[in-house]
Amino acid sequence: FSAFLTDSFGRHHSYLRISLTERCNLRCQYCMPEEGVPLTPKADLLTTEEILTLARLFVKEGVDKIRLTGGEPLIRPDVVDIVAQLRQLEGLRTIGITTNGINLARLLPQLQKAGLSAINISLDTLVPAKFEFIVRRKGFHKVMEGIHKAIELGYSPVKVNCVVMRGLNEDELLDFVALTEGLPLDVRFIEYMPFDGNKWNFKKMVSYKEMLDTLRQQWPELEKLPEEESSTAKAFKIPGFRGQVSFITSMSEHFCGTCNRLRITADGNLKVCLFGNSEVSLRDHLRAGASEEELLRVIGAAVGRKKRQHAGMFNISQMKNRPMILIELFLMRQ
Ligand code: GTP
Ligand code: 5AD
Ligand code: SF4
Repeated sequence: FSAFLTDSFGRHHSYLRISLTERCNLRCQYCMPEEGVPLTPKADLLTTEEILTLARLFVKEGVDKIRLTGGEPLIRPDVVDIVAQLRQLEGLRTIGITTNGINLARLLPQLQKAGLSAINISLDTLVPAKFEFIVRRKGFHKVMEGIHKAIELGYSPVKVNCVVMRGLNEDELLDFVALTEGLPLDVRFIEYMPFDGNKWNFKKMVSYKEMLDTLRQQWPELEKLPEEESSTAKAFKIPGFRGQVSFITSMSEHFCGTCNRLRITADGNLKVCLFGNSEVSLRDHLRAGASEEELLRVIGAAVGRKKRQHAGMFNISQMKNRPMILIELFLMRQ
């Protein structure tokens, strides 16, 4: 495996998350401050050609999975073309997307044809009125349509990301789990994480342990599935159900030890940790005409500075980071 993508703790980085845009057609409370975020001028965002140049380089060095994120990746007009071009890269096994689902039903047939292999959809409530409150926009039925389209087109499992917030949706855990009885979903309950402007506090976070207790009261037969290497999620299943349920425990039990991820922000910064604020501009090096070797040295130096683990729940909640929307998908500013 490439030395440039191996950090000082021996972790190989084979999973690259690329943010296609900072824009989003929703305004989720936990991701974006109410007033929105200052967007980078278009000229400073990566062009499609630059995205593909970087992707090609990372794949050559051993990346075998790329996930497209945002903002909302499906609002980038050339998203289908980007997927199709990534598909040409030899060695790239998985092309995933994490989307809010609003444009999914419409675009999925083309995306699938272009070679999209995995879909994660954000959905935090099954109550339409609450959806509008959380995301500050309309669109619940479009998201549900997107989920069903993904199932219909054979994606399995279709992952549903549900950020759990006390007082908002923690009363819906059992309803979400019930969906997995008949549908091939992986419902993933995510511990609420702090980012600039999202008004995070400890009391609003519902921990993995607490969620698991709630589920076990209803379904004592809940069964733990084997760990998948480098996965963000701990997976469970209720015997007889088609789908499964997972927990993403970024706060209460971090999974930094097996982290294999790197991310590129829409403005071309390499971010070696979701919760780190050291970034290096690959865009500037590209535009200055850097050779492959020079780029790899810059990437290697950044990966070499990657910390063993994030700074802990208390410290990251105090830290200045980009709002989620600007990190990648969504996520983090120095
Ligand atoms: P798969 O590729 O399907 O395993 O998805 P994923 O979990 O890697 O990606 P997704 O975009 O669906 O992100 C879901 C959640 O995973 C996010 O809300 C974060 O909570 C968490 N997550 C994703 N990447 C990272 C990371 O690099 N570090 C940490 N701590 N959490 C992450
Ligand atoms: N805490 C936890 N998850 C978050 N996401 C966005 N903001 C937060 C946050 N503050 C989730 C979205 C999306 C995933 C990639 O990140 O729901 O599904
Ligand atoms: Fe919500 Fe995702 Fe848009 Fe953020 S990027 S506001 S999490 S849909």
